[in-house]
Amino acid sequence: MKEFNITVPVKEYTYTELDNLSAILVEEARKATYRSYSPYSHFRVGAAIALDNGQIITGANQENAAFTAGTCAERSACFAAGAQYPDAKFVRIAVAARDGEGEFLADPVAPCGHCRQALLEFETRAGHDIPVLLVAKDRVYEMPSVKSLLPLAFTEF
Ligand code: THU
Repeated sequence: MKEFNITVPVKEYTYTELDNLSAILVEEARKATYRSYSPYSHFRVGAAIALDNGQIITGANQENAAFTAGTCAERSACFAAGAQYPDAKFVRIAVAARDGEGEFLADPVAPCGHCRQALLEFETRAGHDIPVLLVAKDRVYEMPSVKSLLPLAFTEF
C-alpha cells in the first residue's frame, strides 16, 4: 500500500490586492448575481469568464419550476461563451454568490461538481490552466486551475 496527498495551493486576496483583470472579473461576477433567476432557492450566483479575445462573458443561475431543468451560473456562463465564441480560449473565471438575504457570502463560493466538470472541458480545450476566482464578501480565493478544483478528474475516454 502506498499513500500520497493531493494538495492544492490557494491564494487568498483582499479586494485591493487583486490585479486589474481579476478586479474586473470579480466585479462582473458580483454584478451577474443580480441577473440570477432564483425564486426557489433565493441563492443568487454569478459567474464571469475572461476570454483571450478580450470579451468577458457572464452567467447567472437560472432556476425552473421543474428543478432539474434549471442551471448554475458557471454553466450558464461557460456554455454561453462556447456558443458565442467557440474558438476563444478561457483566460480566467470568477464566481460570486449572494445568500437569501441578498448578502455576498462570508466565505468564498464553492462551485458544484457538475460545474467543475463542465468548466474542466474548457480548460482542456484551452490547453492551459485557467485560474478560478472564488469570491466572498471581503476576500477572494484564487485557485490555480479548474483541475485543482477537481482532483483525479475524468477528462477523456
Ligand atoms: N448554484 C450555482 O449557480 N452555482 C453553483 O456552483 C452552486 C449552485 C445554483 C443552483 C441553484 O439555482 C442554486 O444555486 C441553489 O443550489
